[in-house]
Amino acid sequence: MRIELDRLKAEGQYRTLAESASSCEDGWIWRDGKRMLNLASNHYLGLGHRLDEAALARWTENAGEAVAGFGTDADAAIRTGATASRLIVGGDPAIGRFERDFAAYKGTEASLVFGSGYMANVGIIGALVGRNDIVFSDKLNHASIVDGAVLSRAETVRYRNRDMDHLESLLRRADPSKKKLIVTDSVFSMDGSIAPLAELAELKERYGAMLMVDEAHSGGVYGREGEGLAHALGLTGRIDVQMGTFGKAYGCYGAYAAGDAVVIDYLVNKARSLIFSTALPPMVVHAIRDQWKAVRRDGWRRERLLSQAEWLRMQLRGAGFDTGDSECHIVPVIVGSNERAVAFGRRLQEEGVAAVPIRPPTVPEGTARIRFTPMATHREEDLQMALERIVTVGRELGVVPG
Ligand SMILES: Cc1ncc(COP(=O)(O)O)c(C=O)c1O
Repeated sequence: MRIELDRLKAEGQYRTLAESASSCEDGWIWRDGKRMLNLASNHYLGLGHRLDEAALARWTENAGEAVAGFGTDADAAIRTGATASRLIVGGDPAIGRFERDFAAYKGTEASLVFGSGYMANVGIIGALVGRNDIVFSDKLNHASIVDGAVLSRAETVRYRNRDMDHLESLLRRADPSKKKLIVTDSVFSMDGSIAPLAELAELKERYGAMLMVDEAHSGGVYGREGEGLAHALGLTGRIDVQMGTFGKAYGCYGAYAAGDAVVIDYLVNKARSLIFSTALPPMVVHAIRDQWKAVRRDGWRRERLLSQAEWLRMQLRGAGFDTGDSECHIVPVIVGSNERAVAFGRRLQEEGVAAVPIRPPTVPEGTARIRFTPMATHREEDLQMALERIVTVGRELGVVPG
């Protein structure tokens, strides 16, 4: 282990855990004892997330409806443990009720709550395909999709990022008798680029494949009430499974799958990360519902997030930074080597900007980067301050010309 850890250090790949405490109202963070502007989180909409008396009253009201006949006090709303898997006795009524409401919002027949996005991807892919099937996976898909494909034991065929010609050539070559699953992030988490969902739906129909879309970074951000990109593009009915997480724009924890009732029924019977794991605590389900309501209500957060990100991207590009294919609220600055990304991140943190280096295997070799993610609640003057410091440090380290 020591040898491997030394190798990671020598390659600029060594990682450590930092203590961080975030404030979402204004987008600042305490990190390793220092106050910084938080440009590194996935809490895009900056929703407050604390259990105060008002939240408790709302949760209690929800729990009250859900546990009619079992008493309706605050106790039901703040239970910290589900006691078992959903398939045993962990099915608090709040979960099923939330799933029905959430499916209506997504425009699907049904939805299913998972413990986290990672668990959802591993469970869904493992349920949909097996040993004799093929997964067609975008090369930049999230690690949880990669792991889901590996665990499914299906053959995995990776296509070049968003390259539909490449995907089609691979589909054409594949054994027509095999079950096929195309899977993609809708927004690529480290690039801020967007998958061509309509073309993917066309290919899946042409080649008789299933299509699964990971809305982790688009849920809450796109759509009139944050329903996600597939919904915003009118593609809901053409996608077999949408999944997403409640840990990012929704500002909570947990995840979902959404699709036809038969698909969700199938997942209940086959998704091992659902079946063999304790259900989310009821209090977390109430918190998810609460955050989801705020996401629907606060359209201004989506608008502000996207305009702040557009401003940041334009300013960074104007200053000479390489922001890759970014076209949404995720704005990477690609610097190349791991060492340079680590130095850039460290200097920015010294300057009061929480910026975290992203290195392989999270991104391809030679494309280490800082991934900037503004929040809807960042003040303009704070973003301006961050931009000035990014430019100063970028010049100091030779990332952009001085
Ligand atoms: C595209 C994508 N899918 C899935 C996940 C996993 O979600 P969670 O953090 O809820 O496990 C993430 C987040 O890390 C992600 O970026």
